[in-house]
Formats: sequence, structure tokens, C-alpha cells
Amino acid sequence: MFSLPLRDGADLRPLETWHAEEFAAHLDRAREHIRPWVGAAFVTDDLDGARATLRRYAERQAADGARLYGIWLDGTLVGGVMFVAFDAAAGTCEVGCWLEPAAEGRGLITAACRTVLDWAFTTRGMHRAEWHCRADNARSAAVAERLGMTLEGVRREAWPYDGIRHDTQDWAVLAGEWRGGA
Ligand SMILES: CC(C)(COP(=O)(O)OP(=O)(O)OC[C@H]1O[C@@H](n2cnc3c(N)ncnc32)[C@H](O)[C@@H]1OP(=O)(O)O)[C@@H](O)C(=O)NCCC(=O)NCCS
Repeated sequence: MFSLPLRDGADLRPLETWHAEEFAAHLDRAREHIRPWVGAAFVTDDLDGARATLRRYAERQAADGARLYGIWLDGTLVGGVMFVAFDAAAGTCEVGCWLEPAAEGRGLITAACRTVLDWAFTTRGMHRAEWHCRADNARSAAVAERLGMTLEGVRREAWPYDGIRHDTQDWAVLAGEWRGGA
């Protein structure tokens, strides 16, 4: 099991099925904060739901697909980053992220994304990494911009939430543009 230091007492580690109780407790702190912005399947309500999410990622990772990493701040799971999609044959991936409110504003997600994107581009030879967010998710778009991504377009009314269809933004960075941990 690896644990990579990020900053300010925070570490990045694989988030695995055996973390189900910790993940469920974290979701209790994060649920309402993340619900409008992340995929509905990720926002589960109980321990079984949390375990199912972790198992789904474990199974997809075993097939060299999606991957999930947690961020622990002073020993508490506070959020994480994931490869929502990872297609080694096509050389494309999509990164996602979330935090509970107390962990925002410290640069943890930007640092964690740099780490996993560096692995994707440098170790795995990926060509293109994407970032999809609701167009009114300013904090998420700011992360994509800090990572050096380009806003490539807007998908109009692509995100149904709570009876309203929201626009989504598509950001991406290519291997030749990636500046690594800089
Ligand atoms: C999107 C989300 C993960 C962004 O969190 P965040 O804390 O803003 O992002 P980071 O961890 O990269 O931190 C950046 C903030 O830390 C500050 N910061 C402090 N030190 C920093 C550093 N060394 N490097 C970068 N930023 C730093 C930045 O100024 C910024 O704060 P500001 O927006 O008040 O200026 C978070 O808002 C969230 O979980 N939202 C709900 C779920 C969600 O939207 N998920 C994404 C779906 S697409």
C-alpha cells in the first residue's frame, strides 16, 4: 500500500474496498456538498452503497480501467480523485474529484490531480486527459485551469439535476502540453 504526501499533512492513497466504513462516514460529511456536481451513482446513502462504489472501481481497475484514490488529511479521509474513465488502447482518460467542505481551499485536489495525471502521461503514455464539469461549477473549472487544461467546448443542457438541465464544460490537456508537477 502506498501513501504519497501531498501538502499540509495530507496524503494520497488507493481507496479500496476495505475502506468502506471510512468512505461511508466521509460521505456523510460530503454528501450534500457534492450531490449537485458529481455522478448520481457516486452519492450513496449507506455502508452497502459505499462498499458497492469501491468494489465497482476495484473491478474496473483490475481490467486496467477506472481507478480511485483517497485524500487523507491528518488521518481522516476527506475526498479524492479518480480516473472516471481510462482507456489505455485509445490513450485517453478522464479525471474527476471531490472533497468534503472542510478540506476545500488548500490546493489538495490540484496536487492530487497533478500526481495521477503525471502517472497517466509519464508512466502510462496516455495522450489525452479530459475533465468534465457542470458549467456553473466554478471551483471545478478553476482546478482544470490550474492543471493547464483547455476549455474545448460546452455541451448544452447535458446534465439533468433536480428537474433542471445544466450545460457542461469539456476541458482537456494533451501529453505534449503537460507540464507535470510544475
Ligand atoms: C471541485 C472541488 C474538489 C475543488 O476543491 P478546491 O479546494 O477548490 O480545489 P483545490 O484542492 O485544488 O484547492 C484550490 C483552492 O486552494 C487554494 N490553495 C491554497 N494553496 C494552494 C496551492 N498550493 N495550490 C493550489 N491552490 C491552493 C486555492 O487558492 C484555491 O482556493 P480559492 O478557490 O479559494 O482561491 C471542490 O470544490 C468540491 O469537492 N466540490 C464539490 C464536488 C465537485 O464539484 N467535484 C467535481 C465535479 S466535476
